[in-house]
Amino acid sequence: MNTFKVVLITGSAGFIGSSLVKKFLFEGFKVFGVDNLNDYYEIELKYDRLKQIDNYAKINKRTWKFFKASIEDKNYMETIFKDCKPDIVVNLAAQAGVRYSIKNPEAYVKSNLIGFFNILELCKKYEIKHLIYASSSSVYGGNKNYPFSENQTINNPVSFYAATKISNEVMANSYSEIYNLSITGLRYFTVYGPWGRPDMAPMIFAKNILSRQPISIFNFGSMKRDFTFISDIVDGTYLCCLKPPVDKGSPSSNQHKVFNIGNGKPIDLLNFIERLEDAIQVKAIKNFEELQLGDVETTWADTSSLFNWVGYKPKILIEEGIPLFVNWYLEYFN
Ligand SMILES: NC(=O)c1ccc[n+]([C@@H]2O[C@H](COP(=O)([O-])OP(=O)(O)OC[C@H]3O[C@@H](n4cnc5c(N)ncnc54)[C@H](O)[C@@H]3O)[C@@H](O)[C@H]2O)c1
Repeated sequence: MNTFKVVLITGSAGFIGSSLVKKFLFEGFKVFGVDNLNDYYEIELKYDRLKQIDNYAKINKRTWKFFKASIEDKNYMETIFKDCKPDIVVNLAAQAGVRYSIKNPEAYVKSNLIGFFNILELCKKYEIKHLIYASSSSVYGGNKNYPFSENQTINNPVSFYAATKISNEVMANSYSEIYNLSITGLRYFTVYGPWGRPDMAPMIFAKNILSRQPISIFNFGSMKRDFTFISDIVDGTYLCCLKPPVDKGSPSSNQHKVFNIGNGKPIDLLNFIERLEDAIQVKAIKNFEELQLGDVETTWADTSSLFNWVGYKPKILIEEGIPLFVNWYLEYFN
């Protein structure tokens, strides 16, 4: 039976974080959120996500408190850990985006390395029962053994973003091993859906299609992505949160586990665009371009480990997910 009651979620004004906050509130948890509300993309969207959470918490009489803080600010983070006393910490705060990591690698060092180190240290000091953190499908780099499974070697990142996510996994493993911390890393595969990220393809495509602007289609359209709907990501993350890995004492057991969390059914980028065009009822103006530095051709998750661990099964097919996304987009941007 679950005995956890209090959760601290970093990146709580972000795409995944804000949806996860709502899930935990719905399940009756006391939820604390941290986000530095940086301007990597439109801050209004982050404020609107927070507003939605505030309303939900108020109407349903749930306990929710937000802190505007950077995870690299260790002193401030320590007061938050001390005051909130979380059972579970979910670290989603990070500098995301593959392409931006070529332009501004320093942002990734601050949030993804220094910030993540602080989270590990504080989880150690305050004896957090379970730390869950976001890794990424990009750790598989140029790997062409499909589908990607957790036992494949991941020493060939093709972007600095991926390098920081691989580093997180290695850092987490050492902290778990040395200090007996229960930690779970989740390799998210291309998340899409309502309240999405404006720097990612679905939002860029929707915006340009609606405004009759051309869309850039990289690698001349020869790309596949394992698009995963936000509610599946949130449900899978939630299930993992409730199940900390335990050290069973055998040499093969470890309190750090890493799982893929995807849809398991990659689709052609051109097929995704066609479905978007149908849902929006406008044809896209397509510019075919070369593969971008840092990008990979295909992502495809083997999710059998996560199924065996917590019974994870993605529910939302692309046929359903795209209209849900487009309906939200049209309503939100009016
Ligand atoms: N969305 C995806 O498809 C995807 C895929 C793989 C991995 N991930 C990972 O999942 C996590 C959440 O991603 P998302 O899509 O919700 O991104 P997001 O950018 O919408 O959310 C991240 C949030 O963290 C905040 N943040 C960034 N640096 C911070 C810092 N140093 N201190 C405090 N807050 C900070 C940002 O303001 C933002 O609101 C990230 O770690 C990302 O790398 C996402």
